[in-house]
Amino acid sequence: MTAPSGTLRLGSIAPNFQADTSNGPIDFHEFLGNSWGILFSHPDDFTPVCTTELGAFAKLEDEFAKRDVKLIGLSANDTSSHHAWIKDINEVAGSNLTFPIIADPERKVAHLYDMVDYQDTTNVDKKGIAFTIRSVFIIDPKKTIRLIMAYPASTGRNTAEVLRVVDSLQTGDKHRITTPINWTPGDDVIVHPSVSDEEAKTIFPKFRAVKPYLRLTPLEKE
Ligand code: BEZ
Repeated sequence: MTAPSGTLRLGSIAPNFQADTSNGPIDFHEFLGNSWGILFSHPDDFTPVCTTELGAFAKLEDEFAKRDVKLIGLSANDTSSHHAWIKDINEVAGSNLTFPIIADPERKVAHLYDMVDYQDTTNVDKKGIAFTIRSVFIIDPKKTIRLIMAYPASTGRNTAEVLRVVDSLQTGDKHRITTPINWTPGDDVIVHPSVSDEEAKTIFPKFRAVKPYLRLTPLEKE
């Protein structure tokens, strides 16, 4: 199977669509409003890895809400299947999943976002049609795609990493900084290369140059 041509990249506008979800029909852009959004896909309802993932995301709904991030899942099944599956997820994880899960049995949204599996011949439905992979799209309030992750069906994601990259993106938007390897909030950040040393002295009085191109600074607590 070959990938479609309208490739989505970082910086692309997240394509709009209308779909049925476990919380009723939505227009994706209206659903996002002026918030950040995380659209994340799953291969199939009632599958083990997906069940653990959705339970973990559900338990972090408050953390995402604090960051003004709306979660929306997607799985290649209809809403009645989603409703029954959500009961299982909550039972297994001890969660209370309230965000919508898109019903995408025909893979319409999956194809729009190129979430369809091109490599795993076992990740298929009863008719042999490829399921979705585990994609994550982080979308900012201007509907720009800011981060894309793609995991195979066999590997569950890491919710802490998804939260961490949201924190990095939002911190970078607020201050003229980037974040180093394994950064988490509270760690030193990197002064953006576009900021001169002179400017850095005023904006980040505690910055230190490890190398002329690697300048670290703490961020004042807000
Ligand atoms: C799972 O969620 O466990 C799964 C789903 C589809 C293929 C492989 C694993």
